[in-house]
Amino acid sequence: MNSAPPGLAGKQVVLGLTGGIACYKAADLTRELVKSGATVQVVMTESATRFITPLTLQALSGRPVYTSTWDARPAHHMAHIDLGREADAILVAPASADFIARVAQGRADELLSLLCLARPLARCALLVAPAMNREMWAHPATRRNVATLTADGAVVLGPAAGEQACGEVGDGRMLEPAELRDALIAHFQPKLLAGRTVLITAGPTFEALDPVRGITNHSSGKMGFAIARAAAEAGAHVTLVAGPVHLETPAGVDRIDVQSARQMMDAVLPLASRHEIFVATAAVADWRPATSVEAKIKKDADHRVPQLDLVENPDILATVAALPLPERPWCVGFAAESHDLLRHARAKRLRKGVPLIVGNLGPATFGQDDNQLLLVGADGEQELAHADKLTLARQLVREIAARAPSPK
Ligand code: CTP
Repeated sequence: MNSAPPGLAGKQVVLGLTGGIACYKAADLTRELVKSGATVQVVMTESATRFITPLTLQALSGRPVYTSTWDARPAHHMAHIDLGREADAILVAPASADFIARVAQGRADELLSLLCLARPLARCALLVAPAMNREMWAHPATRRNVATLTADGAVVLGPAAGEQACGEVGDGRMLEPAELRDALIAHFQPKLLAGRTVLITAGPTFEALDPVRGITNHSSGKMGFAIARAAAEAGAHVTLVAGPVHLETPAGVDRIDVQSARQMMDAVLPLASRHEIFVATAAVADWRPATSVEAKIKKDADHRVPQLDLVENPDILATVAALPLPERPWCVGFAAESHDLLRHARAKRLRKGVPLIVGNLGPATFGQDDNQLLLVGADGEQELAHADKLTLARQLVREIAARAPSPK
């Protein structure tokens, strides 16, 4: 179960639909936004109503849908002013090539483009999710219009590549409703790490004994992935080095998959000096089999049990924390303990030589969606109360932004 809080609570969103087959996804998108706590005001162009009925969106949003500049329902008959004035953001999904052209030109010949033009620029963002045939997306006119829109401050979400309704394959598919919902949630997060670079390790490692067996642990990677998402939402460039986990890469995050501790070390070391902040959440296996064989170890006819020789893995965090200064990122370690959290976390902070250790009780949190954290720094401790991992990750990102030295 995902216990993440509604990420759009208290937000007023105008969801604009323009003509395109991707309108069929707008029903789901409306549900996702409503479920995330947003008040969703749907506005449709005339073409959009050819693809999906206003009634469907009215039922899903729980509000009347507007389709015309001349709608007499809003106060003062000023739909274009009132709807934009109340909104925290306008999300146009799908945004057709024609609509993008109209907004780029500052046209106001129907309600939705009028709303975009009349919105208070300083407080109501415009996000557009293009959806069109790949030739239309690639056309120089569309490229020009998208560049103009971006220069004017709009945020362009996607499009994705893939199969298109016309049977062609290429760029121009609208992002999925969940991706658009998350992009909107990310948009509203404070940009506390804008432009900063963050390297994160996550998940368990797998230390092979033979091609089918190995040593690993119960780490799910959820906390590390949540931190990667929260850092990206805060505006950071994030690189995530992940052990073997089945989790989706958060939007905008660069991911490198590894298996073993040594592979994780090999991936992290060259990257460490290119990042300002390093957050080691991975539950790196402390030991690996001294030998790993190419062929599966078979049972012995005499029932003799193979003897496992183990050797210690490199300590990735301690190695990064010991880099000489210009190369050393500001390091955050995690301490997964089964008992005596504070004592172990304090000792671990000193042993690893890092400014901040984040303690948690491993057995209680591995695989769960919730956690509770204890931040142990040089000048004391701070508890982050029990919450879902994304909420905790956002709180931790706030702490990191406040504690990490500012860029030179
Ligand atoms: N860590 C690491 N490389 C290792 C072991 C740990 O980078 N080989 C990092 C973890 O990602 C975490 C921190 O060090 O940020 C502490 O990990 P933990 O497993 O709690 O501690 P250990 O050093 O393994 O100590 P112990 O197992 O004795 O508690």
